Amino acid sequence: MCRDSLTFPRVLLQRAVRVVYVLRVTTRTIAIDELRTITVIGSGTMGAGIAHVAAIAGYAVQLFDAAAGAAAAGLGRIEKNLAKGVELGKLTAADRDAALARIRPCDDLAAACTHTDCAIEAVPEVIALKREIFAAIDRAAPEHALLATNTSSLPISEIATSVRAPSRLVGMHFFNPVHVMKLVEIVRHTGSDPAAVSLAVSLAEKLGKTPITVADSPGFASSRLGLVIGLEAMRMVEQGVASPADIDTAMKLGYGHPMGPLELTDLVGLDVRLGIAEHLSTAIGPAFTPPAVLREKVAAGKLGKKTGEGFYRWSPDGKRLG
Ligand SMILES: NC(=O)c1ccc[n+]([C@@H]2O[C@H](COP(=O)([O-])OP(=O)(O)OC[C@H]3O[C@@H](n4cnc5c(N)ncnc54)[C@H](O)[C@@H]3O)[C@@H](O)[C@H]2O)c1
Repeated sequence: MCRDSLTFPRVLLQRAVRVVYVLRVTTRTIAIDELRTITVIGSGTMGAGIAHVAAIAGYAVQLFDAAAGAAAAGLGRIEKNLAKGVELGKLTAADRDAALARIRPCDDLAAACTHTDCAIEAVPEVIALKREIFAAIDRAAPEHALLATNTSSLPISEIATSVRAPSRLVGMHFFNPVHVMKLVEIVRHTGSDPAAVSLAVSLAEKLGKTPITVADSPGFASSRLGLVIGLEAMRMVEQGVASPADIDTAMKLGYGHPMGPLELTDLVGLDVRLGIAEHLSTAIGPAFTPPAVLREKVAAGKLGKKTGEGFYRWSPDGKRLG
């Protein structure tokens, strides 16, 4: 259960609304100002970040994760990032406390979705898992709730057919670290309701982000382009062209990228990048075939910053060691 429990009459009302919904299988898109509660499913790297920005923007946030203690751990990371924000003078201690008070860690998916206006999914990049989760969200969430997936590459249309009204599901692709990165790709599939797409655009703006709208195609705009550079950088490491640090410096100083492709891979997670590469190599072609070095590091548990080693080594407090 989430920390708040439902009152009996509200449960009855909710059930009655759901019966009507099942019979009608239609949706009503709310206006952005009616959107007050956001449920985030998955409290890993991205889910915790999305919960962070939603709470700062004033939304009530339910943070659900299937792994025991993961939602609380996500909240701990948010607390740390907010504390850093206070240290840097980006927000006040009062803003931090108010944001933290808006986040409720939750260990029951249905309870987390029952009163939500928007459910954003950020679980691992596995289509069967995402479909299963959206089917469960769909059973619990009110008919007006916007449904969004943070997938980096999977077909939104295929995820959307797991819910009864696919028109209310869109892609909302945030970037890592979410509280820092400005971009959100809003991905529309052929069956998306334009009102749901424009609600997602408005929500991204409310979260302080700059949305772009992209058609549902493999890897959207950002993953497709970003991954080509990342995978080529890995092949260059394999071929001994240059060290990871020198390859990253080439892109930073030669092209003005704020971070090199290998350091970015460590930040994103090597497992996450491997999952996307596997999908895009099937969907687009051999330019996305995962290099052996990527597979080897993932098999060895070297997943990047989150495990302390990827193409670089990292200290427990997230500093690059070399
Ligand atoms: N890491 C990035 O830089 C990045 C950037 C943009 C988008 N994405 C996408 O965001 C999604 C999540 O990636 P991440 O890096 O946060 O992964 P992560 O591994 O850090 O977190 C995933 C979380 O989902 C939880 N989870 C697993 N099964 C679940 C279930 N059935 N119900 C609820 N929670 C469950 C896990 O316990 C974990 O806490 C993926 O689709 C990924 O492609 C990742």
